[in-house]
Amino acid sequence: MPVMSPTDPEVEKLREAARAAMKNAYCEYSQFAVGAAVLTESGKIFVGCNVENASYGLTMCAERNAIFQAVAAGKLSKEQKLKAVAIVTHAEELTAPCGACRQVIYEFCEEADADIFIFGTKGAESFKLSALLPHAFGPKDLGK
Ligand code: THU
Repeated sequence: MPVMSPTDPEVEKLREAARAAMKNAYCEYSQFAVGAAVLTESGKIFVGCNVENASYGLTMCAERNAIFQAVAAGKLSKEQKLKAVAIVTHAEELTAPCGACRQVIYEFCEEADADIFIFGTKGAESFKLSALLPHAFGPKDLGK
């Protein structure tokens, strides 16, 4: 399945949602604000921002926060997959999701292979999750 174009109106909406969430980032320690928005199969959008902690290792990424919001709302599950993720930062260099987030994204898309859009101040790029996380370990490996 080809990657949706970053200029699709649906992707624009996702980007705007991620940009708005980025403004709420709690990034006292890194000053690196991240906003994320996820699009579910049902067409709903959920957002997240990074939330840091004085005990650094407890920091949670924007992408996972957005995914967990969708799960809590009952819109992401084994049956209802993740279609796309948009990630926005203030960085010039485009920043792809960290390894932990890639794994959590895979949990909710598997072979449906979500589109990942990353937006920096100087451009945008899109990937299939499978390009960022080839040979993923997932539910299938546990017979689920
Ligand atoms: N961060 C995210 O929110 N998403 C990623 O995929 C990579 C990193 C956050 C975590 C931390 O608050 C800050 O960016 C710097 O690592």
